[in-house]
Amino acid sequence: MSSLDLDGLVRAILTCVTAGPGLGFNRAALFLADEHDDHLVATMAIGPASAEEAHATWTRLATPPRTLEELLQMPLPDQKSEFQRALEGLAVPLRAGDGADPLLASFRERRIVKITNGALNDLPERLREVFDGSEVVCVPLVAKDRSLGLIVADNAFTREPIDDQRIQLLELLAQLAGLALDNARMYRQVERQATELAHAMDDLHAAQDKVIHSERLATVGAVVARVSHEIRNPLATIGGFARTLSAQPGEAERVQRNADIIIAEVTKLETLLKEMLDFTSPKAPHFEALDLNAAVAQFAELHTGALREHGIELTLELGTPAPIVLADPHQLQRVLLNLWQNAVQAIEERRDRGGTIRIGTRRAPARVELRVADDGIGIRDGDLAHLFTPFFTTKQRGTGLGLAVVKKIVDDHRGSIDVESRRGTGTTVCIGLVPGG
Ligand SMILES: Nc1ncnc2c1ncn2[C@@H]1O[C@H](COP(=O)(O)OP(=O)(O)OP(=O)(O)O)[C@@H](O)[C@H]1O
Ligand SMILES: [Mg+2]
Repeated sequence: MSSLDLDGLVRAILTCVTAGPGLGFNRAALFLADEHDDHLVATMAIGPASAEEAHATWTRLATPPRTLEELLQMPLPDQKSEFQRALEGLAVPLRAGDGADPLLASFRERRIVKITNGALNDLPERLREVFDGSEVVCVPLVAKDRSLGLIVADNAFTREPIDDQRIQLLELLAQLAGLALDNARMYRQVERQATELAHAMDDLHAAQDKVIHSERLATVGAVVARVSHEIRNPLATIGGFARTLSAQPGEAERVQRNADIIIAEVTKLETLLKEMLDFTSPKAPHFEALDLNAAVAQFAELHTGALREHGIELTLELGTPAPIVLADPHQLQRVLLNLWQNAVQAIEERRDRGGTIRIGTRRAPARVELRVADDGIGIRDGDLAHLFTPFFTTKQRGTGLGLAVVKKIVDDHRGSIDVESRRGTGTTVCIGLVPGG
């Protein structure tokens, strides 16, 4: 028997009180106070209903002679005894009862009460009938100065008087039983709380799953809406011009113009597709120890011509000695391209023409920094948190994948990315990379 199983424990206590090798009382009942100390509830009763039954039971249990240990292991009889049935469901009110009831007195005052035949009248009616003609002893079950219940025992059939020595032994047993019951109750309470906690956790997980699921759906929905929007315009243009082409295939000049427009729109779609594929299935970087200054210079050479056309000046602030980084050269160019495009577009958005882009490199203690700064339109405070969210864009013709791609590449390089910006003043994007030497 597990010492913490309440029913098993109650049964063990009563077996000790009634078994021959134990205290040998003819019958015993255990009452426990309910949760709010409102009632004393008959929890279990052990003992035969009549002298004949008592005789038969004792004979059966005593052949072969059994130890207390063996008796404790024996299964409960399937049928409840009449004594048990007589007490079943009995609940003695604790608050309303008068002081004369010896059961209540024993419970409240935490003392042993012996009820001789004469005093039985003070018991509740059902108990009076059950214990009629008996000498009964009530022993309180106490733990940590609190009454938990009572053991009520008698010798209804042998009529053996209940002597002081028996009472002392019963008291000793009651003390141990009180502690064991208290432990069992506490364990049950902890177990209940643990179950409640487990349920609460399950509910929380379920709620979390729902949120994640709906967030995912919302993201998928937003992506689909954005992509269809991106595709719809070029497709409509292509469709329109292709129809004109097939209607008037003879006008060479017009055919050429329309074909050029179609090619431009198809290129846009191809770029969009490539960006999306890059983002959703990016290639793992091929790391090389790279001279960051050389990479920046190579990029600048490709783009200075176009910048001049826009009236944008490019200033390079390259640290010395040249910082070496561990990076994939193609992906690094892609990062530069996206940041550069954003910078140019931010300057153009200011509409007052002209501006400066500064690209800087620097060896910091544990990393190499690559900075791209512009004096363009700047970013609204509210937009800062969304910059890396795929498809977040404030531009008419933007896809909103540029910075998401940059972030992905930087993450794959185990780098960092910080954006500082003030609306109307400009933006600086600082990328931290792993030094390559
Ligand atoms: N240098 C910058 N100056 C001002 N705003 C910027 C800058 N860089 C990014 N942003 C803001 O962040 C948004 C997201 O940038 P991102 O590069 O991801 O997408 P996009 O430029 O709008 O479109 P795409 O790069 O896909 O063509 C931009 O729409 C813009 O509002
Ligand atoms: Mg961009």
